[in-house]
Amino acid sequence: MPGDGVRCRDWSPVIYGLLLAVVLQASLLAGRSEADPLPDIHQWSGEALKTLRSLSLSSLPPLPKDPSNAYQADARAIEFGKSLFFDQRLSANGKVSCATCHLPNVSFTDRLPLAKGMGTTTRRTMPLIGVAYHASFFWDGRKDSLWSQAIGPIESSVEHGATRSMCAHLITDKYRKQYEEIFGTLPKITHKSCPPQASPGTGNPAAIRLWNAMKPGDRDAVNRIYANLGKAIAAYVSRILPQPAPFDRYVDAIVAGDPEAAAELLAPEAIQGLRLFIGKAKCTNCHMGPLFTNSSFHNIGLAASKKKPQDRGRADGINLVLADEFNCLGSYSDAKPDECTELRFLDRNTSQYVGAFKTPTLRNVADRSPYMHAGQMKTLADVLIFYQQSRSRELGHQNLTAAELLQLEAFLKTLSSPLAFPQ
Ligand code: HEC
Ligand code: HEC
Repeated sequence: MPGDGVRCRDWSPVIYGLLLAVVLQASLLAGRSEADPLPDIHQWSGEALKTLRSLSLSSLPPLPKDPSNAYQADARAIEFGKSLFFDQRLSANGKVSCATCHLPNVSFTDRLPLAKGMGTTTRRTMPLIGVAYHASFFWDGRKDSLWSQAIGPIESSVEHGATRSMCAHLITDKYRKQYEEIFGTLPKITHKSCPPQASPGTGNPAAIRLWNAMKPGDRDAVNRIYANLGKAIAAYVSRILPQPAPFDRYVDAIVAGDPEAAAELLAPEAIQGLRLFIGKAKCTNCHMGPLFTNSSFHNIGLAASKKKPQDRGRADGINLVLADEFNCLGSYSDAKPDECTELRFLDRNTSQYVGAFKTPTLRNVADRSPYMHAGQMKTLADVLIFYQQSRSRELGHQNLTAAELLQLEAFLKTLSSPLAFPQ
């Protein structure tokens, strides 16, 4: 079994194992001296070591390109995006910015069960940690790029509550120079040709009427500015990256053949938790790779709230991303159609995804409660008890003991470190 931690490979020494455990216990109690053998828990089988490396930040590949956003790596776009991310003028009441819900000091989340902007949303704010590595965005994956994601909340009545026309005017009036340096000459729009209240995306009938009354060329101009605003914000968001946590340093030390240094980095309980995480508890079936997510969608058996209408999650997200005018195949994307692999190979079998949500990253997870897509759980202990009890087909029963839950929790706490992002 991978990661069982027994050095000896023949079958006789059950007693030897027990003895080792006693020695280990004694050495932990006494504090290890130079001459003591290294505790057995730092020995990893070849297979387990492969898994450890795959989870470590050292195996995070270079930032992937987004073919639908030609500006994602542009330093000027990153800077422009930073200003927009914190700009409260991109909202109906002048008080909401992306950073209202995505606070930099708590992994760009807000510590609330349900996010609050102009109103209250039906889902929890997602952390922004290495999101540029993902292929789909939001709990239901209804966006296929970071830039089309960014322009979603701006027109949501419970988030920014703004309109795309209002944003186009703000860019024209306040950010002309920054915009034109990156995206070229701004198209001419006036309050008469483009009323700031006009929008097809807010669900407000008056806004839709105003939008439909605009000339097609003006609608296109506003959409183009709006998409570019999203592309600049995405350039900034893509630079929010995880930094090595104690877990990563532990793996680096093990890989470097320095178990002495490794032993200083993780407590024995966390190491037992790590063994469970990649073994018996099957967590790496979904929380895999250096961001601890397969970027895919699963129904893990969270009960739907009796008071609220059922959230169908990914089942609705599939149709929404296909219908989105700002998707990879749309006219505001910079990608060639054959570069839109996410959309082209999309699994359209919605019935399989009812109640399925995106596997969240577990980076910094201990520092940003509450948990799950609607903030259903207050603490990591609650989450682990849920996993112990869930009978979801997707999880498989893990038969975890109370002591093992504590070990898993100790391990999850080793995944935290301050993020890197453009200051
Ligand atoms: C009112 C609070 C609120 C505001 C304002 C807000 N967000 Fe979010 N953000 C959320 C919530 C809630 C979700 C999950 C929503 C869902 O799945 O339906 C989310 C999800 C995301 C995601 C998806 C992450 C992932 O892993 O899929 C990104 C990226 C993001 N927001 C960036 C932004 C940006 C950029 C802005 C500003 C343009 C912004 N958000 C404004 C609350 C907010
Ligand atoms: C079948 C895939 C799958 C497996 C296996 C799995 N998870 Fe998850 N995990 C998810 C999904 C999906 C969510 C979000 C569910 C939701 O909100 O509806 C989640 C949420 C979480 C969260 C909350 C994170 C947050 O930001 O809200 C934690 C912590 C967590 N999982 C830890 C674990 C641990 C520990 C294990 C092993 C015992 C495990 N998971 C096994 C898919 C999985």
